[in-house]
Amino acid sequence: MAPIVRPGILDIAPYVGGEAGLAGRQRVIRLASNESPLGPSPRAAEAYRALAGELHRYPDGGAHALREAIGRTFDLDPARIVCGAGSDELIGLLTRAYAGPGDEVLFSRHGFLMYAIAAKSVGATPVAAAERDLTADVDALIAATTARTRILFLANPNNPTGSLLPADAVQRLREALPDDVLLVVDAAYAEYVSRNDYEPGDALVDAGDNVVMLRTFSKIYGLAALRLGWAYCPPSVADVLNRVRGPFNVAAPALAAGVAALADAEHTRAARESNDRWLPWFRDQAGALGLTAWPSAGNFVLLQFAADPARGADAACLFLNARGIIPRRMAAYGLPDCLRVTIGGEADMGAVVDALAAFVAG
Ligand SMILES: Cc1ncc(COP(=O)(O)O)c(C=O)c1O
Repeated sequence: MAPIVRPGILDIAPYVGGEAGLAGRQRVIRLASNESPLGPSPRAAEAYRALAGELHRYPDGGAHALREAIGRTFDLDPARIVCGAGSDELIGLLTRAYAGPGDEVLFSRHGFLMYAIAAKSVGATPVAAAERDLTADVDALIAATTARTRILFLANPNNPTGSLLPADAVQRLREALPDDVLLVVDAAYAEYVSRNDYEPGDALVDAGDNVVMLRTFSKIYGLAALRLGWAYCPPSVADVLNRVRGPFNVAAPALAAGVAALADAEHTRAARESNDRWLPWFRDQAGALGLTAWPSAGNFVLLQFAADPARGADAACLFLNARGIIPRRMAAYGLPDCLRVTIGGEADMGAVVDALAAFVAG
């Protein structure tokens, strides 16, 4: 007899990340995983290399230096920060600690895929609330909350749609939720947002004991390979996370690179400026080609194609692939007529626009 896997596990469709290469091509333009075109700060890369002779040492399981650096950078209490192997790990740990069989984990229809995967992996029921114009709908989320709801994950800005909820909408959501529902504001793209009605979530964390903010070093800091994220929590939630996480859940080179990345504010600014320049440019160009390019507060744009298969997203993806460009297909997000394109630098975005123009011209 085979070992018996727990209910829910085999319902999980494994997460398929963005492709990294194309058969037969040496050089590709990777725009499928919202990675930074600038890469990491040279100081972060140096901090990583500097640990090459120390690989036999366990990391600091308390991530003290990094939590202090995050606290200084964002004016937060380090005691309320918990680091993880990417924010993905923290999504999983929160779900494991706060939800189980019979419970519901709520998110919006086109929210980040890991929320449903995390829910199923603990035997909880994932519940997707309807969106309005590819944007989380506070009223629909409130209406979808039941006595079984334990966690609500809100990606803000949302991946893959790029949509954003202003601070007052998130606050209204929190106020309408029962106190025992944990609101997790996943602000993976916070550093890219320039709108002044935005709040990444820390003010709401401070205002009570039932909101957590998640952040990552994978996006603007360009450290996706190292797997580094963090949660800013009420003390009780930090305590819970510190009980369920692995004692050495973040690798030493990741901790060191994170500290160095935060110290290089100039590099972070350059990454933001690059995005501020090329994202609107790309949306304008795509719009001029007759494509629907959804507004985005992140470092990516959702492109919507015609329903006609010959002109559709799959055909466009193959066309781009033939030119060495890798966008992200969106069928797994329930958006089969869309592709998500990460914002790269000038050369990459020029190549994408040229390819899209050729595709549109047929
Ligand atoms: C909204 C959102 N949350 C979390 C993550 C996971 O990031 P990490 O690399 O820190 O695990 C991503 C990555 O794409 C994301 O888009």
